Amino acid sequence: MAQKLINKFSKAKGHMDKIKILVIEDEPSMRLGLAHSLTTKGYKVKTAENGAEGIRLFEGESFDIVITDLRLPNSNGIEILKSTKNISPETGVIVITAFAEVKTAVQAMKEGAFDYLSKPFTTDELLIVVERFLRYRGIELENIRLKEEIGERKHFQHIVGISPAMQTIFETIEVVAKTDSSVMIYGESGTGKELVANAIHNLSPRRDKPFLKINCAAIPETLLESELFGHEKGAFTGAIHRRKGKFEMAHGGTIFFDEIGDMPLTLQAKLLRVLEDHTFERVGGNEAITVDVRTLYATRRNLKEEIKAGRFREDLYYRLNVLPITLPPLRERKEDIPMLVEHFLKIFCRKTGKTNLVITPAAMDRLAAYDYPGNARELEHAIEMAVTLCKGQRIEPCCLPLEIRGTKGDHDIMTSPCDDLSLTESVKAFEKKLITNTREETSGRKKETARRLGISRKVLWRKLKGYGLSVSELED
Ligand SMILES: Nc1ncnc2c1ncn2[C@@H]1O[C@H](COP(=O)(O)OP(=O)(O)OP(=O)(O)O)[C@@H](O)[C@H]1O
Ligand SMILES: [Mg+2]
Repeated sequence: MAQKLINKFSKAKGHMDKIKILVIEDEPSMRLGLAHSLTTKGYKVKTAENGAEGIRLFEGESFDIVITDLRLPNSNGIEILKSTKNISPETGVIVITAFAEVKTAVQAMKEGAFDYLSKPFTTDELLIVVERFLRYRGIELENIRLKEEIGERKHFQHIVGISPAMQTIFETIEVVAKTDSSVMIYGESGTGKELVANAIHNLSPRRDKPFLKINCAAIPETLLESELFGHEKGAFTGAIHRRKGKFEMAHGGTIFFDEIGDMPLTLQAKLLRVLEDHTFERVGGNEAITVDVRTLYATRRNLKEEIKAGRFREDLYYRLNVLPITLPPLRERKEDIPMLVEHFLKIFCRKTGKTNLVITPAAMDRLAAYDYPGNARELEHAIEMAVTLCKGQRIEPCCLPLEIRGTKGDHDIMTSPCDDLSLTESVKAFEKKLITNTREETSGRKKETARRLGISRKVLWRKLKGYGLSVSELED
């Protein structure tokens, strides 16, 4: 629909016969003069000599622009303006005022006139205002078209995806955003769970209230409790001041619990209580605090298995699993890859100030063929690396990470450096391999892996994600 209108306006210069203008003016010479100037320019013009006739014409057919005198016998221009805007709000109204009628002109603008012309005015002044309206209308319609395109949903709240699975997810997000229910977002690492949580909050009635996030896997149990519920002064060693927790700070808004499957059992019980009666106490306190918070959750774990293993409360599961959303891994929706590649390419070109970078078909083939154990995040990092490394205008397969470009897949960076890699690339490949090896040696225990590497669990977590490595097999 919008496209048709845009064609009409964007081609305005070439095919102005399509633009229809109604002139309402009682003074014959003025009326004819206006009609003549506009017709000469190719606009299709109709005229009326009083307000009643003007409105009758306007009701009978649609006009893109109405040019009306503010002073007419038996009616005034403001009334005509109001009726016009009532019947067709998108029509541009230009009013003609006498030299001394500044006040009325201002009133007309307030009522929605596009502009005014003070008598006497030249043909050029008239045409400039008309063209300015058409340009303005063109831009406005372009915006409508863009919005409609977004309606086709290749992009939705910064989430890219044309696969049927993603389309369904976009629809689900819109529906659940309007409710206050808990939403549980499942999906492997890097599938976009946090993006979905952001989208839900941004589309919800709580969008202007706080949106807080907490990663239950990255914070030790004791700290997690005070992070969530706050603590009183002296509640434990180091609690020098009273501190508000996330629940208090998010009042009226939303909290996103990332990696909820990793929340310790004792805290699960406390969380359940807040969800049920909206009250809690700060650590070390006994004042009951009541809050209104909506909660969203994400986990890479299979919670049913966690329940079986005795690590997750069944009652909490049923409380949280009201509206589940499952993000499929990227390898199961490969049709999304080219769009994601373009999306990330744009982002990193903007960040690095590079322009006109293109992905060669050969590089795109490799990108499309790869299985992405780290999902969209791994693809994102691959493109970031390619944009950084690429020296010319073309991203070739050699700019892609080893595992994606494939040719040197069996090369062991630990035993011999690779001469076609830059220093940064070699160091990164080495670090990645070292982490993978250590993780295997410790059977995926995160504490032990971090200890052997001499880094904190948080840093380990960040690095794993940074390399697009799956964190799913990590145990404490
Ligand atoms: N469909 C998508 N469109 C655009 N960007 C995406 C999409 N999916 C993921 N990303 C990007 O990939 C990265 C990882 O996404 P996100 O953090 O939401 O994943 P996640 O599922 O929460 O991962 P994890 O379980 O590791 O926390 C982000 O930078 C995000 O912007
Ligand atoms: Mg996440």
